[in-house]
Parts: sequence; structure tokens; C-alpha cells
Amino acid sequence: MDKLVINGGRPLSGELAVSGMKNAAVAVVLATVLVEDKCVLENLPDISDINIALDILSAMGARVTRLSRDTVEIDTTFVKVGTAPQELVRRMRASYYLVGSELGRFGRSLVAAPGGCDFGVRPIDLHIKGFEALGATVNVDGGFIEATAPEDGLVGSSVYLDLVSVGATINTMLAAVRAKGLTVIENAAHEPHIVDTANFLNACGADIKGAGTDVIKIRGVERLHGVTYTIIPDMIEAGTFMVLAAATKSRLKISGIIPKHVDSISAKLTEMGAKITEEDEAVIVEYQGPLKRINIKTLPYPGFPTDMNPQMCVLLCLAEGTSIISEGVWDNRFRYTEELRRMGASIKVDGRVAVVDGTGELVAARVRALDLRAGAAMVVAGLAAPGRTEIEDIYHIQRGYENLVEKLQGVGADIRLVTTQDQA
Ligand code: UD1
Repeated sequence: MDKLVINGGRPLSGELAVSGMKNAAVAVVLATVLVEDKCVLENLPDISDINIALDILSAMGARVTRLSRDTVEIDTTFVKVGTAPQELVRRMRASYYLVGSELGRFGRSLVAAPGGCDFGVRPIDLHIKGFEALGATVNVDGGFIEATAPEDGLVGSSVYLDLVSVGATINTMLAAVRAKGLTVIENAAHEPHIVDTANFLNACGADIKGAGTDVIKIRGVERLHGVTYTIIPDMIEAGTFMVLAAATKSRLKISGIIPKHVDSISAKLTEMGAKITEEDEAVIVEYQGPLKRINIKTLPYPGFPTDMNPQMCVLLCLAEGTSIISEGVWDNRFRYTEELRRMGASIKVDGRVAVVDGTGELVAARVRALDLRAGAAMVVAGLAAPGRTEIEDIYHIQRGYENLVEKLQGVGADIRLVTTQDQA
């Protein structure tokens, strides 16, 4: 098994450039099915979740051409419905966007149930509520999701999402883009990747208003057309690097970002005593002495992101005093705390709440990446803790961080990828 080997405890310096946002890119890549034409996507991160999504599209009959590392041309003209390979679909969570895209284009969809990080139960009832509001019949049976529009096609309607859900908001939007008439999504999620997906679809000729607010209105159009579109920067990658700066007592410039997207992270790091300087497309994070304890509640955007829960927990271990993290999105997001305990952390978990007794330090250890962001947190912890940390199961990290080892080496980190071959 490949692993990361880190010699931690040394300060870093310089600049880290942020890649395109995973959660926007997966939605936009799978939304190209609706376009039925040639699109060029720029700033597409070269990570395994995106490469799996591209492999799914190729297997379905799309022509996928890599023009450069982060630029891909996708022609979905000849895509065939219901042909997404089950074994690829099961390797990523966001493959559920194929249901909205296929339904919107073909009036039917057949896709295997998705995979992704294990945070406890991850239902899709709200996605189904969205499809049904447009007239579709949906069955989930034998590990497959099957959706069928009425004979005359999907018809726009109002749908109230009982919980704020990123996936259900985007999926309903995908199904509605080519439906007849007006669809209104109420209690929509506000995340920047929802706005990015809507901007992409609008650039292709869709009529979507209100993305980024509670109410999204989609007036169906008959056809979309191809475009060249640039994916927004990844706010969670940016946030991970911001935490890394404070955790390693460093000064790092995190560039190529939209600073507004990381406002909640900047606010919490400032509260802990780090100095944040905002530039047009960058933030500079500077460690300024012992970190203070704080409390965190994760919430849908613009609240503090759940996908920064594990990385922030590492920082709270490195602060002095007791901090509390309340997880407001997922039932089971604290599994990673077992791994942090191996590094000397003192954390008690009760349901959706973790009480972190910060001692100001962590110790090097052999740990596992239990999911994508948990794995990123182990990298931050390993770079902060003096000595040799080894991280296993790093395929989780490779799902969402482009070129991580090289980026970190570029700011002076002693981190290397050891492959199975190296170990043989
Ligand atoms: C997306 C992100 C994930 C992030 C999460 C919350 C992608 C590919 N993944 O996941 O990284 O952690 O947003 O910011 O973009 N829920 C239901 N029924 C549904 C759908 C969701 O009850 O039909 C619940 C979930 O169990 C969870 C909450 O709603 O408690 C939010 O989930 P949601 O926003 O849908 O997360 P994802 O889109 O799966």
C-alpha cells in the first residue's frame, strides 16, 4: 500500500497555489451529460474523484480529451443512458449527479447507488423528492437508482428541501434545466459549488436565477450548447493550507483563491490568534504565538464547513485548553479522532460533539487516512508533530488533493510518497 512519510515539526514558508474545487468540478463534469455538445473545462483538478468521473463519462460514450493537466475537453453528444459502470459509480459519492443529468437529458436514468466517504447514513431522499416534484417516478432497488419521467417529459414545479442539502439542490437543478416551465427550489443550499454549477449551466444556455440564495428559480430550456468554463478554486484545499500554516508555526501565502469563500475559516483562525492578511486572490496566514482554544460549530455555507472539521480539530489539539467542536451536518464525522489519539491527542466524542483537551503538541505516529478530510488532517498533524509520521490508506487523500506532496515540498515540507514498489 502506498503511504506518506513525513518528518514533521519544522516551519514552512512560501506560497501554495490552490487547485480547482473538487465539489464544483464533480458536479460540472457530470452536468456535461445535459449539454449534448463539446465543453472545455479549465482548472479541473487532477484528482482521483475527477478522473473516475471522466472514466464514467468515457465508458458511457463521451469523448474525453485531456488538453493539459487541468484542462479537459468533453463531448457528450453520443452518451448512452444507463451505461455508467457500476464499479466506477460506487467509487465516488458525487456520481449521484448522473441521475439528475440523465433524467434531464433522456427522461430516464439508471445508475448504481454511490460510494464516497463514510460519515454514517447518507440518504438521498431529498434528491428523490426533487425528481418526483418534476413528475419522475423513482425506485431504489438492488443497489440501483432508477428514475423515469412521464411520457411528455419532466415539468417544472416547486420543491421545498426539508434539510439544506448540497447534493439535492444541485441534482434537482440538473433535472430541471431542460424540463418544461419553471422550477422553484426552496431552502436551497448556498455553497459556492452550487453557484459554480449554475454559472456553468447558464453559460451553456440554461436559465437559472438565485443560485447562492435560499430560493433558486430554473426556467427550463430545450437545449444547451457547449462552452469553455473555468472551475472555481477549492475553498477546502485553501482552508486545509490555512490551518497548516498555523499548525506548523509558519507564514504561508495561499494563492489563487476567492478569499470570501474562506471567511469563516479566516474568522476562526483569527480567533485562535493567527494573523490573516487578505489580498485580492490570496490570504496570508501567519502564526503569531500560542494558539487559543475556541469552540466551533459546523454548518451549511456560509457557516463553518463540515469538511474542515478534522483539520481544525488538529489545530485545537495544538492550542492550549479545552475546545468544543459541534458537528452540524453529519452524524458520524469524528472517526478520525481515533487516529489523532495515536498522536497524543486527548479528545472525547459524544455523538455529534467532540471535546478537545489541547496540550499544545502532538507526537509523530503511524496513522491511517480514514476518509478524505480526515486524511488531510493527518497530513497537517504529521507536519506539525516533531519526528516521523507515516500515513496509510492515502487513496482517500488522493481523491481530493491535487499534487499534494509536490505542493507541500515546495514550501519546505519533508514529506514523501512511498509506493508499494519502493517498499518491495
Ligand atoms: C456535499 C459534499 C461534502 C460535504 C457536504 C456538506 C460533494 C460531492 N460533497 O455532500 O463534501 O461534506 O456537502 O457540506 O459536494 N441529507 C438527507 N437527505 C438527502 C440528502 C442529504 O437527509 O437526500 C442530509 C445528509 O445526511 C446530511 C445533510 O443532509 O446530514 C447534508 O448533506 P448534503 O449537503 O446533501 O451533502 P452531500 O451533497 O452528500
